[in-house]
Amino acid sequence: MDNWVTDMMNLRDLVEVAEGEVKILLPEYREFRGPGSSEMPVFYNPTMRIDRDLLVRVVKFYAEEGWVFLDGLAASGIRALRVGRESGKNLKLHACDLNPLAVQVMKRNAELNDLELAVHERDLNSLIPELRPNFVDIDAFGTSVPFLDVAIQYIRHKGIIAITSTDTSPLVGTHPKVCLRRYLARSLRTPQKHEVAVRILLGYIARTAAKYDRGIQPVLSYRGKHFYRIYFRVLDGIKRAEDSLRRLVYLNPRSFEAFRLSSYPYWLNHELIGPLWSGSLEDDDLLSFILRDLNESSPRTFSEETWRLVRLLVNENISFLFFELPWECKNLKISIPPLKVIEREVRAKGYRFGRTHFSEQGIKTDMDRESFRNLLLALSGKSSN
Ligand SMILES: C[S@@+](CC[C@H](N)C(=O)[O-])C[C@H]1O[C@@H](n2cnc3c(N)ncnc32)[C@H](O)[C@@H]1O
Repeated sequence: MDNWVTDMMNLRDLVEVAEGEVKILLPEYREFRGPGSSEMPVFYNPTMRIDRDLLVRVVKFYAEEGWVFLDGLAASGIRALRVGRESGKNLKLHACDLNPLAVQVMKRNAELNDLELAVHERDLNSLIPELRPNFVDIDAFGTSVPFLDVAIQYIRHKGIIAITSTDTSPLVGTHPKVCLRRYLARSLRTPQKHEVAVRILLGYIARTAAKYDRGIQPVLSYRGKHFYRIYFRVLDGIKRAEDSLRRLVYLNPRSFEAFRLSSYPYWLNHELIGPLWSGSLEDDDLLSFILRDLNESSPRTFSEETWRLVRLLVNENISFLFFELPWECKNLKISIPPLKVIEREVRAKGYRFGRTHFSEQGIKTDMDRESFRNLLLALSGKSSN
């Protein structure tokens, strides 16, 4: 028997980790550097607690009595355990992992926290059709694509799927061939690359759902340090599927003009980026709830980073894509005006203004591109406005 297994069975050499309102035991993980490693005997990455802080709040906001919650790629089971302890909802908790050691650790962790957790040593794709969950979390190594068809087909009506994608380079245009193969979409490096990446992912998700006569409604979307995270609802019906498809657009990388094309063969067009989801990225009611909830929660249950992120996410629905200030100013051959001044002028003209979490120097506004560029020129003294 493998050493890790014998050690674990004797419950020796496990380290205890506290996160939120739970404690978990794990084989030593701190010797592995970077954003978690698939080499770990049981995966755990403390820097991803931001995802788990938010997961708890998403469940708290949407889940109904008796919902089946599935932590699909569970490792230590920390997601299911935090949801069970912190969401305040009465849920049927399930956790799944192919790794037998993870399964043993999860059982131990459920006991430690005195929570009822059904643990499955299975391939996630075989479990979902049996369980028909209302909520499934898919925290994959790399892409979540291998699980999407099954999850989208079998999640219950109005259920929620949360995915993590760590394959950022195809999505931001560094490896466009991989993006085309994996997401049937064309990526290209742009100043708004991280928002484009999230919208490519959502465009793929919308087309996957449409195959099964289902529509989607994104409720929370964001970029982490080395991954993207998306939560979306799945809704039954051909009309909803078609409504979702109508939100797909293509982007001209030179003019940043977005438009719909009436027929799909155009996705092969090498001039255009997309298809991209052009609809909302966030449910604003959910974000208001999360902000209230963070305000009222014990600081133990969330990190400062979670708080900073949510305060920026409230701006993401202001516009489709954002203006990357250094890039715009470089093109206009002007120096960057102070942000405060830009904000004051944009608001004075009656437009909305906000910072984006996708880029430190990005601005979200509903002002059109030409007016925004004219404003920058006027502020730099190059032309009157
Ligand atoms: C990134 S880790 C999950 C981390 C965990 N969700 C957390 O927050 O700490 C991915 C896990 O998925 C498991 N896994 C990979 N492919 C699987 C499959 N097809 N079915 C079930 N589990 C799988 C791996 O064993 C690994 O434990």
